[in-house]
Amino acid sequence: MKRYLVAVPVCLGLAFLAVPAKAAPINVMADACSGCHGTDGQSLGAMPGFNTGAPDAKSNAELKKLLRDYRSGAREATVMDRIAKGYSEAQLDAIVDYYKK
Ligand code: HEC
Repeated sequence: MKRYLVAVPVCLGLAFLAVPAKAAPINVMADACSGCHGTDGQSLGAMPGFNTGAPDAKSNAELKKLLRDYRSGAREATVMDRIAKGYSEAQLDAIVDYYKK
């Protein structure tokens, strides 16, 4: 009996996770990029930053094109192609706008 008392809440919890989530708020989607590209897209290491504020920083339009090309497969990548496919084009655009705001 004790086992069921534990299993039922666990199963209910898992069922809750299985419910399709609404689109995440933009800051949550954009935070997924920070782990690799640095906080606010300001990379400190070898990883390309996409909001460096440097004179050669890519424009909003360039970043959107890069992400769309990763998503479509037009641009080869090691990981960004797979990551970009996880978002719609509209979501990728929104992420760029979020970082470039
Ligand atoms: C697992 C690490 C990782 C995550 C997470 C990640 N990226 Fe990337 N990103 C890379 C790597 C590595 C590259 C270089 C291209 C390649 O080899 O995939 C790259 C390249 C890019 C570029 C091109 C930069 C340039 O100057 O050429 C952009 C823009 C970009 N990522 C945006 C994003 C956005 C937006 C997110 C979040 C949705 C994101 N990345 C999440 C690893 C990551």
